[in-house]
Amino acid sequence: MAGVTDIGMRRIAMRFGAALTVSEMLDAEFYVSGDREAAIRGAGEGITLHIVQIAGCAPGPLGEAARLAEAAGAAMIDINMGCPAKRVTGGVAGAALMRDLDLATRLVRSVIGAVKIPVSLKMRLGWDESTMNAPELARRAEAEGIAMLTVHGRTRSQFYRGKADWAAIRNVRQAVSISVVANGDCTSAVDAAAMLEASGADAVMIGRAAVGRPWLVGQIADALTDGRMPSEPDATLRQEAAREHYKTLLSLFGKEKGLRHARKHLDGYARGSAHPNAAALRARLVTSENPTEVEALLTTLLATEPVAGTA
Ligand SMILES: Cc1cc2nc3c(=O)[nH]c(=O)nc-3n(C[C@H](O)[C@H](O)[C@H](O)COP(=O)(O)O)c2cc1C
Repeated sequence: MAGVTDIGMRRIAMRFGAALTVSEMLDAEFYVSGDREAAIRGAGEGITLHIVQIAGCAPGPLGEAARLAEAAGAAMIDINMGCPAKRVTGGVAGAALMRDLDLATRLVRSVIGAVKIPVSLKMRLGWDESTMNAPELARRAEAEGIAMLTVHGRTRSQFYRGKADWAAIRNVRQAVSISVVANGDCTSAVDAAAMLEASGADAVMIGRAAVGRPWLVGQIADALTDGRMPSEPDATLRQEAAREHYKTLLSLFGKEKGLRHARKHLDGYARGSAHPNAAALRARLVTSENPTEVEALLTTLLATEPVAGTA
C-alpha cells in the first residue's frame, strides 16, 4: 500500500507471522530513473520473501523496473492493475489497464520476460459494474506465466466505497488454476474464513485493517490454521513494535519526511488506547516533532490493553 507498507511495517508484520508482504507501489519510470525515494520504498533488507510492486503503462520501463528490483534482491514482482487513483489511471496504469487488456497482456509479458523470479498481478473486479472482466484478464495473465493473482473485490468505479464482493472473486478462481488471493474489507479471522468460503480463494490479503496492527496478519493466519484467534501481543511487544517502526521511518526518510510518513502509523498504533487521557495524548502523538516525546507517548498509550472492539 502506497505510503503505508514501508519496510518498517513489513518487517514487523513478517515477524508476527505474515506469510507475504508487498512493498508500496513503485512508479516504474521513477524507479528506473534512479529516484532515491523509490529505491527506499522498494528496499527489502530483513524481509524473508521480498515482493516489490511496480506500476506503469509502458512495457519497456515496466520490464526494466522488474529487472532492477530483482537485481536489488526482490524474490517476486507484483504488477499493479488495481490502483484507482486518477493520477495513476490517468496515465493508463493501475486499474485503467483493465480497460485495455491487450496492453495489460503486453505489460505482463514484458515483466515476465525481464526476470527469472515469479511475477504476480493485482487487479480489481473490472473498471465498472458493466465491465467485470477480471476473469478474462486472469486467463490472459495465466497464459503469459503469471504465478499468482490478487483480486480486490471492488470495481475501479467504486474506489473504496460499498462493500467488497467476495463472491465475485470466485469467477476469477474458476477461470484459472494458479493461486488466487482474495482482498477487500478483511478485518478479522471471521472475515477471512468467510472470504475464503465465498470466493474459493487460496489466501487472503489484508490492507487497511493492519495499519497500527501489523501483527493482525499473522494472528489471522494462526486462527485459520488452529481455529482460534491468538490474543493481542502484550503491551511490551506492541510498544517495542511501534517504537521500532517509528525509528525505522525516521532513519529511512530523515526527520521531516519521516515524521510526516509516521503519522498514520502512530495514530493507528494508538487507536483504542484505554489510557484515561487517550484523546489528548493521541493528538499530541501525531503532531509532536520531538522523537523522544513520541516514543514516550507510544509507551504510555500502549501500556494497557486496547479497548475491546477498537483494536
Ligand atoms: C492508502 C492506501 C494505499 C494503497 N496503495 C496500494 C498500492 O500501492 N498497491 C496496491 O496494490 N493496492 C494499494 N491499495 C489498495 C489495498 O492494497 C487494498 O487492495 C484495498 O485497500 C482493499 O483491501 P483492505 O480492505 O484490506 O484495505 C491502497 C489502499 C489504501 C487505502
